[in-house]
Order: sequence, then C-alpha cells, then structure tokens
Amino acid sequence: MGRQLALGVLISGSGTNLQAIIDAIEGKTLDAVIRVVISNREDALGLARARERNIPIEVLDHRKFASRESYDQALVEILQSREVELVILAGFMRLLSPVFVKAFTNRIMNIHPALLPSFPGLHVQRKALEHGVRFSGCTVHFVNEECDEGPIIIQAVVPVYQDDTEESLSARILQEEHRIYPRAIQLYSEGRLRLVGRRVVVDHLGNQEDQVLIQPPLNG
Ligand code: GAR
Repeated sequence: MGRQLALGVLISGSGTNLQAIIDAIEGKTLDAVIRVVISNREDALGLARARERNIPIEVLDHRKFASRESYDQALVEILQSREVELVILAGFMRLLSPVFVKAFTNRIMNIHPALLPSFPGLHVQRKALEHGVRFSGCTVHFVNEECDEGPIIIQAVVPVYQDDTEESLSARILQEEHRIYPRAIQLYSEGRLRLVGRRVVVDHLGNQEDQVLIQPPLNG
C-alpha cells in the first residue's frame, strides 16, 4: 500500500458512491483515507455510512448562509483544516462557485450519471429515456467553473432498454458508478492523471482493455 491520499467527500443523499469508496479503501484497492464527509443536508442517509466507520462528519446547511460564496468559503475552510488533498463530489447536489473551485483547482472530482458532454445538469436519466438513446452511462471528471464541463477521467457505458424506467436505468448506471469512481481516485492517488489542454491523459496504462477506459473491466 502506497501513500494515503487525503479525501474530503461531499454528499447530499444516500451516499452509495461514498460507500463504494469506503469499501475500496477497506478492500485495499484504493490508497486513500477519508478525512471528512460533509453533507448540506442533515437527513442525508450517507451520513450513517460515515458514522459507522468513525469517519468525521460535518453538516453544513446551505440555507443558513447568506450567499453561495459564503457557503463555499465555509466548505473550503473545513476541507483545508482537515488537510484534504482531493475533494470528491458524491451526489452533492449543489453548484460550486469560483470561490470553491479556485481553492481546489484540478483537485475536485465529480461523478455524473450520463455520458458527458451529453446530458449535463439534473434529471439526466429521465432526459436520456426521453431522447431514446440506446446507451447511457456515467462519467468521472475534474470539476471546473462550468457545470459538468470539466476534463473527463473515466466513463462507463450501459445499455438503455425500451422498457426502462427512470429508476431501472438509474440503478444500472449507479452500479457502474460504484466501479469507476474508486478507480478514478486511485489513478489520481498514483499520480497517473495528467491534464493536457481539456483532456485527461492516463499515464502507464497496461493492457488494451485498460486503455479503453470505457465500460472498463477494471483489471489491475
Ligand atoms: C449518483 O447517481 C450521482 O451520479 C448523482 O447523484 C447520485 C448520488 O447517489 N450525481 C449527480 O446527479 C450530480 N449532478 P449516491 O448518493 O447514492 O452516491
């Protein structure tokens, strides 16, 4: 096991991606430590997952702040006080202002339940069904100042069936999210993600399956 990357995980909801990250750390496929889990909602189910593992928790309710910037500044202060190196957005349903993005330039990752740049924004599984796409999936990307616009790290593809509902498609996508998010963080932890313009180049990719990084078998 190498150096442990210090993570701060931001959630708003059920926290199944947080759980996948916790499981990967415990399973020793991810060299990281979660320094803090922050939720903007005190009823987020994901908080219980952190509590169960004795991971420090902070609830920061955005409704108690006068502006987006003052809220984001408070987030930044918590993360910096815990010496977080990489910020993980795991179902954190708030837009981040430049105050936040500048404090962690190229050190924020997000997971999005669509194949970006298709379907940015909200309710994207429903939009994918409405468009009749045959494939959808999920994307892990670095966060920049534009919503769902940052450089793509890993994507996974899932089929879309004619009888899918928003729920069934979301569940199929979520399964893939749980596979690719820990992998993307591990690549960062190993120092293998390099930004070239708006692209992310992954250094030292092994066999051909790994080189695709689409519907990845996640070997190695
Ligand atoms: C996931 O599907 C994630 O991709 C999505 O919210 C869900 C959170 O699930 N994120 C976004 O839509 C961000 N705009 P989780 O709380 O169980 O990890």
